[in-house]
Order: sequence, then C-alpha cells, then structure tokens
Amino acid sequence: MCGICGVIGKTNVVPQLLTGLRNLEYRGYDSCGVAVIADGTIHLRKNVGAVEEVEQKEQFQELEGFIGLAHTRWATHGGVTRANAHPHLSCSGDFALVHNGIIDNYRPIKAWLKERGHQFLSQTDTEVIVHLIEEYFRESGEIEPAFRKALARLEGSFALALISTHDPHTLFCARQESPLIIGVGNGNMYLGSDMNAFVEYTREVICLEDGEYAVVRRDGVTIRQMQTGKRVVRACEQMPDEGYTINDKGKYQHFMLKEIAEEPEVVQKALEIEDEAIIRLARTVAQSAHVYLTGIGTAFYVTLIAQHYFARLADRYIPALSSDEFPFLAQVGRGSTVIAVSQSGETIDTLRALRYAKERGATTAAVVNVPSSSMVREVDQAILQGAGPEICVLSTKSTVSQVIILLRVALELAVLEGKLEARMKEQYEQELASLPALLTDLIASLPAQVRVPAYEYAKVHNWFFIGRGVYSAVALESALKFKESSYLHAEGMSGGFLKHGTIALIDETTSTAAFVPPPEEKELFALTLSSIQEIKARGGFVLGIHQEGDGSEEKFFDAEIVLPAVSPLVAPVVALTAGQILAYYTALALGRSIDKPRALAKSVTVT
Ligand code: G6P
Repeated sequence: MCGICGVIGKTNVVPQLLTGLRNLEYRGYDSCGVAVIADGTIHLRKNVGAVEEVEQKEQFQELEGFIGLAHTRWATHGGVTRANAHPHLSCSGDFALVHNGIIDNYRPIKAWLKERGHQFLSQTDTEVIVHLIEEYFRESGEIEPAFRKALARLEGSFALALISTHDPHTLFCARQESPLIIGVGNGNMYLGSDMNAFVEYTREVICLEDGEYAVVRRDGVTIRQMQTGKRVVRACEQMPDEGYTINDKGKYQHFMLKEIAEEPEVVQKALEIEDEAIIRLARTVAQSAHVYLTGIGTAFYVTLIAQHYFARLADRYIPALSSDEFPFLAQVGRGSTVIAVSQSGETIDTLRALRYAKERGATTAAVVNVPSSSMVREVDQAILQGAGPEICVLSTKSTVSQVIILLRVALELAVLEGKLEARMKEQYEQELASLPALLTDLIASLPAQVRVPAYEYAKVHNWFFIGRGVYSAVALESALKFKESSYLHAEGMSGGFLKHGTIALIDETTSTAAFVPPPEEKELFALTLSSIQEIKARGGFVLGIHQEGDGSEEKFFDAEIVLPAVSPLVAPVVALTAGQILAYYTALALGRSIDKPRALAKSVTVT
C-alpha cells in the first residue's frame, strides 16, 4: 500500500533509491516517482505505470543527488494520474514529500491553505501536507518546527518523508499507524516502508513507533514524540536474514508459480519451528476464557481453516473473525486471547484488531512471515513463519505455512486438554511429515491436468467454489485466489449454503469447482456429492476436485482434478495447493498480470 524509500549519503543515492523502489513495488504499482536535491533544487520525475515502465519513460537513472525520496503508489485519493503520483512538491518547489496512508481531514486543511494562496496540482490528500509544512515554514523559517506543527494538524494514518532545499542534509519522517523504519549502514541513512527499501544495503534498523517523528542526518538520528517534542532514545536492531524481497523469479515465468513450488520447503520449515513457541501459544489458548482468530483476505481464510482444525482436533470452538469487522463483534478483555494471521505483519485492519484487543487487556499473538513488521513488535507472542520472501501479491506459500503452524497449535492444544492420545498425535505428526514430499509430487504432476483445460475454464465468466466442513474454507480461499488472478467472477461458499439462494444462478453458463473430501469423511463426502447433484440437476458444469479412487468421479463431474489419496488431516492443504494451481493456469490462459493483479497490493496499510 504505497512504498516509501529515502536515502541520504555521501555519493549519488539514486541507484539505492531505484533498488528500493523496485523492491517495494509489491506495495502498490499504479504510479511511481523519485525526487532528489542537486544544485540547491529539487529534481522530480514521476509518472503512471509500474516501476519498470516509469523508469523507462522518465529515465530516473539520469537523476543525481546525495539525498532523495522515492515512492510507489496504490491510489486511494485521486485517480491514477501523473499529477497524483508522489513525490508532491510545495508551491515554491523547495519541499518534496511522499506519504503512505490516508489524511482524514485533508479537505478543511486544503481549504485553509487555498485561502492563503496555495495552489494544488493533484487530487490527493497527500499534497496538503507538503503545502502545510511550507505554510508553517514561512512563519518560522525553520523546518523541524514547521514539520512538527503540520503533523499536529493531521488526522488519519500516515508514514511520510520530506526533503527540502532549505536543509539538503536531512531527511524528515514521521509515523502514525502506517509503517516506517530507518536503516543505518555504510555511511548512508535510509528510510523505508519496510526492510525491502534498503535490504541490499543494511540490516541495521531503527523502528519508529506511532506518534513519533525523526530527523535523519548522515551522522545520526533524532527521534521525538510528535505531541510533546520529547526525545525518544531508541537503539538499532539487527534484523534477521529472512523474509525480504529478492526480485529473482529463477526459472519460473511468475513469482506465483515459483512460490507454489516452494511450498514443500516452506511446510518443512513450518514443521521445524521450535515446539516451544507452538506449545506456548497452545498453553495461552488453553488458559484463555475467550480466544479469537483474526486476519483478512487470504489470511482470514487461513483462520477459517484453522477454526476447523481447532474444533476437530481439540474440541475447541475458536471463532474466526475478519479483522476489519473484529472491533464491531469481538468481546475481548482480560483473560481473552487474539491470534492474528498476517503474511506481511503490516495489514492495518489486522493491526487495528490487535490494538483494539490489547487496549482492552487481551493477550495478543500472531503468525507472521515478515520479521521486521509492526505486528511482530506489537504482539505478546509472535510465531515467525520463516517462509522466505513472498513477492507475488497473491499469497500462496505463506498460506500453507500458516495453516501448518495453526494446525500444530491445535494439536498441542488437544494434547494439553487431554483430547488426543500420544499414539494419535504421533500418527498425525507422521502424516504432517509426509506432506512436503506429497506436495512436491503434486506440484510436479498437477499442471499436466490443469494447464490445457484452463483455456476452457478461462471462457466461463461465473464460477462457484464449494466444499463442506473445512473444505468450505478451502473453497472460499480458492475462489478468492481464482478471482484475484483471473478477474473472473468467483464466489466461494459451503455446499449447504449454495441451495439457499445462489443455486438460482446455476445454469449451463456457470461452472462450479467442488472440493470433495476424502471418502473416510463419510458425512462430508456424502453431503458434498449431494450438493454436486443439485448443481448437475440444473444444468451446471461441475469441476470435481477429488481424491484418486474415491469413486466420486464415476457419476458426477464434467471435468475433474484428481488429487492423491491422503489422510483427512493433510487433505485440506493438498486441496489448497490444487486451488492455487487452478487459479494460476486459468490466469495464465487469460494472459493476466499474475504477480501484480490490477487494483491489488501485497501489503494493505490503509483501512
Ligand atoms: C492483501 C493481499 C492479500 C492478503 C491480504 C492480507 O489484500 O492482496 O493477498 O491476503 O492483504 O495480507 P496479510 O499480509 O495480512 O496476510
């Protein structure tokens, strides 16, 4: 959701800014820009398009300067136009600013500034900030007080960075609800929305907290509280080596396929996470009166899948709430625990849910992939996935890793609560241990079943994805993956729900992908087949995603994806991966922008 990068150094910093920009592109990619100071002037280039496209149009590499800012945008206020791209300049052109977040009260500020003669070139909320700073600078002739005074007037969420020709040796930045970190390394200072902004140059990081601003010079950083101006002392942290972007697709056409191919390894890593961390969370759950799972998008569907594992393995109903709705529903307080799931650890809806819970005295925990993220710092217990960088905006390998981690927590909870005998636990662990090899075979063999039919699937404009029990959650996630990647309309739901309304839409023009559970799950299996028959009776096309030799294909399907016969414990994970592969090849058949689908961003830091 907008990527910010800033660098100050003793040589030309444009190469570092451009590397940062490319590595941050997954945060938004509708337009981007760079501003540097050279010869007492701000030089600005920006335009509409993905980073590579704009780099070519604008020849960013021709810029030179010892200090600069770069930004990649995901539009909130104002369309995707050159004028709305960041950085934004003040009237005099002496200040340049980049921003991530939303300024709620930008309208009254804009009106006030217009009365004072400021002229605006964009429709963004961001532009008011740079003019406001300029306005206050006119009063005092000093940047820091002007910056602070402007910050005091802003309502909403922001991470922002400012440069000015009036002090070409300083980067000014501030953070309120949107992520911003400072990198310290090899004589340079960096700013970034996350580590990817400067990961190739340093892992030494100073994290800004909400309500703080910083004055960053080559020889040091001063952090202060926005409200009081009080100085904050904060040491550098050394960030671990994992979880950051490396823009290399290897032999794969898309990151999505590369990341699906990494799933066996990622599952193995999830299985190797220290028992201690898993048991600690299970113990917290065991001791809590109320526990919630939360996340949004794919991460929410992971919590729905986990909800089934907790119910089934540990006899514990743990409600899963979409994090955007969490504050309106959850009853949290002392004695409750909230477990969040988030690949990025920066998703604002999920951070807000956690903060809401924390303020009310709840214990907070999170399963997160990015070690330097806000969520890892804010929760009481964080389990790091160690799944490595996930570049494709659509989450795949992180998803399966999160499922495995929560499944492990459910198993430990079951043991703690005396719901699982040691012998059964051992059997389940063996089944989990076999999963990496199973996924390796699946990922190697499934494309042969999907690649060609995908051209036919791509012609169907309305899809339904159904499943029963845990497969209803798999269906929801698979529909999301399918629509995000292919832009075809896809709705996921439980098979039972279909007949209560949506079935009215079933005819020969619609297709339904049906996840059939393993036949050992007799009731779910039978219920799923009933749902399928109801669709067939209305002329609907059914793509059955089922296990080899389960007998289901004989009567029902118009097309099928045959999965290996695996145990009910791991079958949902296999089905998830199959759903990802189906989405990938359908999007490929349509020639979609698979790694960066339109209008999406990997890290959504605005509400
Ligand atoms: C965005 C992405 C989704 C992702 C969701 C939650 O919407 O496009 O793929 O599932 O954010 O992200 P998180 O980082 O919290 O897992």
